[in-house]
Amino acid sequence: MSRIVLGVSGGVAAYKAALLLRALTEAGHDVRVVPTPGALHFVGAATFEALSGNPVTTDVWSDVPEVAHVRIGQTADLVVVAPATADLLARAAAGRADDLLTATLLTAHCPVVFVPAMHTEMWLHPATQDNVATLRRRGAIVLPPAVGRLTGPDSGPGRLPEPADVAALAAVVLEGGAAALPRDLAGRRVVVSAGGTREPLDPVRYLGNRSSGRQGWALARVAAARGAEVVLVAANVEAAAPFGVRVVPVETAEQLRTAMLAEAAAADVVVMSAAVADFRPADVAATKLKKGSAAEPSAVELVRNPDVLAELVAERSPGRLVVGFAAETGDADGDVLTHARAKLARKGCDLLVVNDVSAGQVFGRPDNAVVVLAADGAVTEVPRGSKDAVAAGIWTAVAARMAPPAEA
Ligand code: CTP
Repeated sequence: MSRIVLGVSGGVAAYKAALLLRALTEAGHDVRVVPTPGALHFVGAATFEALSGNPVTTDVWSDVPEVAHVRIGQTADLVVVAPATADLLARAAAGRADDLLTATLLTAHCPVVFVPAMHTEMWLHPATQDNVATLRRRGAIVLPPAVGRLTGPDSGPGRLPEPADVAALAAVVLEGGAAALPRDLAGRRVVVSAGGTREPLDPVRYLGNRSSGRQGWALARVAAARGAEVVLVAANVEAAAPFGVRVVPVETAEQLRTAMLAEAAAADVVVMSAAVADFRPADVAATKLKKGSAAEPSAVELVRNPDVLAELVAERSPGRLVVGFAAETGDADGDVLTHARAKLARKGCDLLVVNDVSAGQVFGRPDNAVVVLAADGAVTEVPRGSKDAVAAGIWTAVAARMAPPAEA
């Protein structure tokens, strides 16, 4: 159990802090909520007290003998500020201590994660961007805002990301420290495919697979947190777009191929984590196949789908990394790594992320463990952890092989 301080500043997104609090306590953490006085205009202290089981104060004049403004920060394992308004970021960057939250930020020795939420103009204003840069330079993690509907009719960057996305990254920082989310992908464009394709048989039926898309979502989330501009080509995954990631929804292998080839053209890194069907029905019935009708099939003829990874390798421009995934089992012909090395050579990609599925223990599970093989023979073991922690390990292996960024 870790001790987390959840700072909440005064924006309308403060209502989502209650959901984040819930996610953090359900993960087993002891959470102390420290709202600013402004936050309590949006959500009452009683809500935070009931959900956290801890007292809630906003100023430094309560519990004076306990010296709360020093003790809360000193004893925390992680501070998450969500939402972090423009005003809160400015006060934190200036080192002010005019309420309990900013005082806590000055006394915290642990990693600090800011989750900004504000109107687009306020987020893009050079003053805010300078404050964000200052906080990052000092070692804080400032997550990118989500893009979408803001308060009122307009939309753009500035939305508070989904509480589940923030909780997933908070767990990565608790596990690996602030070093697990460096800004090493800043200025990089990455394209990730996720989910599993569906190959239609008729208007209602399809051949599909069990991929949940969770590992691909985690890769997108972590890449965005590490500064990348991310496109997620999503095959049949309904989850909301994380942290400003642009989602391109697709259904079939053919659609995924078209989307990946188009998006890859401007990418520095392409990651094929989607489970692409190797075969599709040779014929797709225009109307539903009915029992007892003349069209009732006795067998389904299949034809090969294109190998998207192979095409991405063939079309790669210099400097672009192509990363494949492989689910392998050991058998009489060799162990998992032997098969994986052969696949890496066959596919011609730069890196291959290998899942050992011998015990049938990847699909739909919240955790994972992988080995990353590189074309130069290097082997990186990423130990079992949450899919976001594994994603962080994969990006570290990828970042180590990226060409230096082009001069601005
Ligand atoms: N892949 C792809 N297009 C396909 C099938 C797979 O791009 N039609 C990609 C997957 O996204 C993954 C990688 O290829 O990144 C490995 O897929 P896999 O099916 O394990 O490889 P195969 O060469 O089909 O291996 P096997 O012979 O073991 O089925």
